[in-house]
Amino acid sequence: MINLPQPKLKGTLSVEEALFKRRSIRSYADKPLTQDEISQILWSAQGVTEKASKMRTAPSAGARYPMEIYLVNADGLFHYHPEKHSLEKIRSGDLRNRIADAAHGQSFIAKAGATVIISVDPPKITSRYGDRGIRYLYMEAGHIAQNIHLQAVAMDLSSVPVGAFSDEGLKDVLNLPDELKPIYLIPVGHTRK
Ligand SMILES: Cc1cc2nc3c(=O)[nH]c(=O)nc-3n(C[C@H](O)[C@H](O)[C@H](O)COP(=O)(O)O)c2cc1C
Repeated sequence: MINLPQPKLKGTLSVEEALFKRRSIRSYADKPLTQDEISQILWSAQGVTEKASKMRTAPSAGARYPMEIYLVNADGLFHYHPEKHSLEKIRSGDLRNRIADAAHGQSFIAKAGATVIISVDPPKITSRYGDRGIRYLYMEAGHIAQNIHLQAVAMDLSSVPVGAFSDEGLKDVLNLPDELKPIYLIPVGHTRK
């Protein structure tokens, strides 16, 4: 387990400025994300903000928290554990080219310092909400993605949401547990100046 540095709760950009500056950016400087940057991005996605209730940065229907967040960078594939704010290394090796291939050749994915993978365990939410839970999954993924985009802007990083990929292709590359379905990819990289 890799214990991540504590996230910062103050930045230099206001929410309004981050909203104004957010843009989908697909070209990145050739520089890995630091551990502080990875920590902050993952915290914005699913960090625990209330110890007792274990509530998180992003809302979740019925506080079911059906999402599992993974991160891929040049070092490997990692699973984020929100309660411990830590990363578990699942696999070594750089999978970014293969993810770009699975995303129909969107080559910028291979150049981003990291890609956050938002995946979901659907029964965690459909067991409570039935079919309606399916729409909640995508809504929740959108909340998480937007948190990441705004956090990235606030740190002068660049990001883009990616929904176009082959489900089967990505499954082959990531080899996640069977119950998990990746639904959104968020490449994040240093801004090319
Ligand atoms: C659900 C969703 C899926 C998207 N999928 C992709 C994608 O696969 N590849 C890509 O380059 N951009 C993707 N985008 C980004 C859009 O192209 C982008 O948001 C749009 O052009 C508006 O630009 P802006 O985000 O800079 O405001 C996606 C956006 C959304 C909301």
